[in-house]
Amino acid sequence: MSNSFKTFLKHTAKDFHNQSVNPPVVRASTIIFKSMKDIRKTQGKAKKNPIGGHYDYGRQGTSTSYILQKILTKLEESYHVFTTPTGFGAVFLAIFSVTRPGDEIIVADPVYSPTRLLTEKFLKEFNIKTIFYNPSDLKTLQKNITKKTKLIFVENPGSNSFEFQDLGKIISIAKKNKILTAIDNTWATPYYFKPIKFGFDMSIVSATKYYSGHSDVMGGSLAVNKKVFSKVYNAERITGLRLGPDDAYLITRGLRTLDVRLDRHRENAKKVAAFLSKNKKFKLLYPYKKDSYNFRMWRKYYSGASGLMGLKIKSKNINSVRKFVNSLKLFGYGYSWGGFESLALHQEYRETGNRKYLNLAKDEHLVRLHIGLEDPNDLIADIKQALRHLK
Ligand SMILES: Cc1ncc(COP(=O)(O)O)c(C=O)c1O
Repeated sequence: MSNSFKTFLKHTAKDFHNQSVNPPVVRASTIIFKSMKDIRKTQGKAKKNPIGGHYDYGRQGTSTSYILQKILTKLEESYHVFTTPTGFGAVFLAIFSVTRPGDEIIVADPVYSPTRLLTEKFLKEFNIKTIFYNPSDLKTLQKNITKKTKLIFVENPGSNSFEFQDLGKIISIAKKNKILTAIDNTWATPYYFKPIKFGFDMSIVSATKYYSGHSDVMGGSLAVNKKVFSKVYNAERITGLRLGPDDAYLITRGLRTLDVRLDRHRENAKKVAAFLSKNKKFKLLYPYKKDSYNFRMWRKYYSGASGLMGLKIKSKNINSVRKFVNSLKLFGYGYSWGGFESLALHQEYRETGNRKYLNLAKDEHLVRLHIGLEDPNDLIADIKQALRHLK
């Protein structure tokens, strides 16, 4: 009998040795052996099977991180999953693993702003050139491919502006030109879209967000196929970018309820979106209205939507936009979304950065909402009262 992933998440990682429903947190800098012979035996096994959980040094992990990696590998349907101390660490590891001086990479214009800084500014110092493409016009991707192009880096939907891209087309362009691909899949997680199965070589999720789900831990995951495994494995060992056991435990604990929480985020977000979509003062940036390109691209590739959405507000009065956001009572103001609670942010230049293809007129403003697990009727009532201020 093959159980669904929902059942697997509840039944996996039991510890019958210690008679605990959850695995122990194994903290170790020194991995101890009974003899030199045992050390060599483990090293031999690790060489033969680098993903088999054979460790001789604490930085490589312990059984606690190994369990998390096994769960995520199953969720991603990938060859392997590397876990990093933050989601951004996973972004760095993906890019660092496969690019070298002289290479070029093509990156989606609306990537998470630290990813933009890393590629546009930092990599430039290492003679790696970044070109940004328009997420809504893939000709800008295609025409920038050269012999030096090593990687196409996608984030879907676009950070804060929520463009949904034609992922199938991106993969076919990449395959035709023998270019590696990576996607930041934090918004959907593999619960709603499985990038490796779809054809991406690498898939990043900030575990800080929905995986942990409780806004109290940081971590990242980088899922890979067999083709790029060795490159990432070597880079991971060189950089020491590994998740610690306490954080691995908390993320494993969060994953038990990933499906339940994401289903509820989706239900709540849909109810809030239904309310917001009726308002003429703004455009809802969420896959809700069936007639849009974004909706079609989302429906083509995703089995669900998470709780993060945006509003594109047209107003000549920026202070009224600020007042609307500041008058929300049930939404906290903070950056790291994906927890159980609702959040709001008024997006200014600091958040969107210096984008080439940001489709925003002079009197248009972006607001980001994370729809949490509160009663959606309360959230709608809260937004309603705050909207009085929007002029
Ligand atoms: C899409 C996306 N990717 C990566 C990250 C970075 O994750 P972390 O905060 O775990 O470093 C974030 C954080 O907000 C994000 O929104």
